[in-house]
Amino acid sequence: MANTILVGAQWGDEGKGKIIDVLTEQADVVVRTQGGNNAGHTVHIKGQKYVLHLVPSGILRKQKVCVIGNGAVVDPVSLVEEIEGLRKLGVKIDRNLYLSETAHLVLPYHRELDAQREIVKGKNKIGTTKRGIGPAYGDKAARTGLRVVDLVKPERFKQQLELKIKENNGILKAFGAKPLSFKKVHEEYRAAGDYLKPFVANTVILLHEAVRRGDDILFEGAQGTFLDIDHGTYPFVTSSNTTAGGACTGSGIPPHRIDRVVGVMKAYTTRVGEGPLPTENAEIADMLHAMGREFGATTGRPRRCGWFDSVATRHAAMVNGIDDLAITNIDGLDSLETIKVCIGYRDGDRQYDYVPNDIEVLARCQPVYAEFPGWRTPTDRARKMSDLPAKTRTYLKALAELTGAKLAIASVGPGREQTILI
Ligand code: GDP
Ligand code: IMO
Ligand code: MG
Repeated sequence: MANTILVGAQWGDEGKGKIIDVLTEQADVVVRTQGGNNAGHTVHIKGQKYVLHLVPSGILRKQKVCVIGNGAVVDPVSLVEEIEGLRKLGVKIDRNLYLSETAHLVLPYHRELDAQREIVKGKNKIGTTKRGIGPAYGDKAARTGLRVVDLVKPERFKQQLELKIKENNGILKAFGAKPLSFKKVHEEYRAAGDYLKPFVANTVILLHEAVRRGDDILFEGAQGTFLDIDHGTYPFVTSSNTTAGGACTGSGIPPHRIDRVVGVMKAYTTRVGEGPLPTENAEIADMLHAMGREFGATTGRPRRCGWFDSVATRHAAMVNGIDDLAITNIDGLDSLETIKVCIGYRDGDRQYDYVPNDIEVLARCQPVYAEFPGWRTPTDRARKMSDLPAKTRTYLKALAELTGAKLAIASVGPGREQTILI
């Protein structure tokens, strides 16, 4: 399969977990390189649903090595819970998971600060997952963070944590929030440190050994292109580089070792949290929610929904260098008579064929639509392109052409088997 970066080409929740699971069959190593437990990647295997937050989705296949890389941020207590939850479902996690020594920690004051900052922002809130992601990456950039390597050194961790809790309790007090108990946090995180210690490794060395062996590495992107801290709809973004470059910095594997970039996108658009979504549409949201679909895998929040936005996906293809496309949730559109696709933005007299950087301009942009006839036939049993109605194939071909990449995978249901490899 070669070394493949998989990214979300929209606003997250594109179905990356499902596609990772499909692609993992041919990979040896699966690595998460950014984000934290703000992610929620859903995989359905033989009727069992798994939701992965920080553990790479590759863990669900036997004999695959999974790595949480240096670019991720790790809440140790929540990672222990995730591992325990997976073990209860019968997933073997033993010598197949590695955690980078240099990944930064998410600590309770990060979560508390995340919540407090959202309260202060009021109606301008980002709509974060409240997992402490922004403050944790903030500490990393400010060079004041604690890392996994500190967590597993009891004396050092104790000293550093005590100082950090003191400092952050001062900030929390200014917000009018309750201070944290050092003793309680220390006990809880030390226990998590002991539990995680066997997984801790120098993952840069480990990954380079894998490269030298000729192993195939799959980089599991989290979030999506328009949540990228540099390329997304700032400030309504997450705090990491969700685009392809983040996979290299977040793992220590250099760009020239990457062979392919796969972009995952839904056949429509969703977004959870605040910020502009040019093609947002209440009708399609109501339809999908009535089907029980499009509720967040991490927070359970209903996702905002809209028509497919090819201005956005073309931009994503450009900044990620997407070679191949995986289009998911095609079956979500099965009942529609007419399907719209955004092919440009208009702001007054001005037309855009790219995503404008000024968030106020983007928020004003009106989509220019092309219309496609719906196929009004269930597609969930299709297993090859020729099983799909001609109108579905026409629609998918148009999405790929408008985005500017090759259609490689079409997904017609959440199950592993509901996948068409092209
Ligand atoms: P991720 O964060 O990109 O991994 O995506 P999520 O797991 O948060 O959300 C995608 C949702 O779509 C999950 O509930 C998946 O099980 C589901 N899904 C993925 N592909 C398909 C598909 O082709 N059809 C249907 N019906 N559901 C899908
Ligand atoms: P996966 O990997 C969708 C969104 C939040 C919020 C913004 C910032 O499942 O696609 P944060 O907690 O990161 O500070 O929140 O980013 N967000 C996601 N939206 N899917 C995700 O992950 C997301 N992770 C964060 O809703 O708008
Ligand atoms: Mg998700």
